[in-house]
Amino acid sequence: MDNGSQDFISADAFRHGMRHVPTVVTIVTMGDDEGVQGVTIGSFVSLSMDPPLVCFNVQKSISIHDRIVEAKGFAIHVLREKQSSVSDWFARSDVKAGEQFEAYDYEISETGAPLLKDCLVRFECESYRILPGGDHSILVGKVISIMEGNSGRPIVYHQRAYHGVGEHIADHEHKSRAAAGK
Ligand SMILES: Cc1cc2nc3c(=O)[nH]c(=O)nc-3n(C[C@H](O)[C@H](O)[C@H](O)COP(=O)(O)O)c2cc1C
Repeated sequence: MDNGSQDFISADAFRHGMRHVPTVVTIVTMGDDEGVQGVTIGSFVSLSMDPPLVCFNVQKSISIHDRIVEAKGFAIHVLREKQSSVSDWFARSDVKAGEQFEAYDYEISETGAPLLKDCLVRFECESYRILPGGDHSILVGKVISIMEGNSGRPIVYHQRAYHGVGEHIADHEHKSRAAAGK
């Protein structure tokens, strides 16, 4: 297989290894003169406290890529346990951007991004930097507002399937120390 990384590992080996790494499941939305669009994104992480930055990665070949790298901003919606169908919907290639939001309540943010009402937590961002990342672009957003939505727990994507958060194993050591006043 010619995957451009033959000196290192195969694409299959890379995918297989990464399947062990659980991710959060989010819907990232944006809007511009052409309308609104959203996409399922699992690569969302927090990046910086000061300024408050988050980031995620978008494959260059997917339909939202060229629009989202030009957008003023975007909104990142972390999905609740019960929302795996929303993840599947926004990952579909056969649904046109204009049809994606027909079944959803949303309002448009100051950056033009549609803000979905139902999610666990939403981060509204101004676009801060676009960085190269191989066949993906790394989008860095500056968080301008946070909405803590419906209560519940997030979906975890692991081994190509959706899961709930697993059982509590132990408190974080620092949390235990803080509680003990040390
Ligand atoms: C759980 C999950 C996580 C995903 N995470 C990402 C991601 O971080 N970056 C990305 O570019 N695509 C990600 N995708 C794939 C995109 O959602 C999918 O390729 C895209 O919606 C296809 O769009 P297109 O058909 O309009 O090109 C993910 C899909 C799923 C189901």
